[in-house]
Amino acid sequence: MSIVIAVDGPAAAGKGTLVKRLEEHFKLSKLDTGLLYRATGWKVLADGGDPEDAEVAEAAARALDPAELSNPDLRTDEAAQAASKVSAVPGVRAALLDFQRDFAQKPPHLADGSPAHGAILDGRDIGTTVCPSADVKLFVTASTEIRAKRRFKELQDRGLDAIYARVLEDMKERDERDSSRSASPLVAASDALLLDTSDMDAEQAYAAALDFINSKNLF
Ligand code: CDP
Repeated sequence: MSIVIAVDGPAAAGKGTLVKRLEEHFKLSKLDTGLLYRATGWKVLADGGDPEDAEVAEAAARALDPAELSNPDLRTDEAAQAASKVSAVPGVRAALLDFQRDFAQKPPHLADGSPAHGAILDGRDIGTTVCPSADVKLFVTASTEIRAKRRFKELQDRGLDAIYARVLEDMKERDERDSSRSASPLVAASDALLLDTSDMDAEQAYAAALDFINSKNLF
């Protein structure tokens, strides 16, 4: 049986670290769905377009090639802001839906060539829209200030120039846009485990997620 784990939540809440540990522990194929929106936004910017132009954004999403997902530029804050804009366009979300659902239903083999035990997808609307019948749903969050501090440190660790006040401002702007859009807004599924990592380290968050998953006797 192929298991599906959906992990949603705002930026820098700790999804990435948690997903990586769960992916390795349960031998799952991972899809970072944010990359799909980042790649779409980036493509629009590269062509000199406006990420808020629905027609242009939808065309970019439809033309997306999975090979573009490994572009390191997608990790920049510029790409994140563009992602947040294109992701509010319903046509963009519709264009990316099949790819995400196919991945969840038929997860690709693991890097070592062995079959995966299932899929783990992280994003904003996996438990609500992409995989509403996922076996496990986690909603990972933390206070805005703590998330901005984490993102600031992450940028510094990557050797990038960052100003904390600017990171906080960008995060608030993106949270507001992601939560208020009408197409699949960022919201916890009613059956998701809510993990507020404000006062948790990575180990504690992982332990809480493991307890929840193990209680379902899926593996
Ligand atoms: O890594 P971080 O949490 O900062 O961002 P991300 O997960 O790469 O997502 C970038 C942007 O894409 C988000 O701010 C959302 O606007 C959008 N997104 C979305 O709308 N739906 C998803 N399933 C994933 C990302």
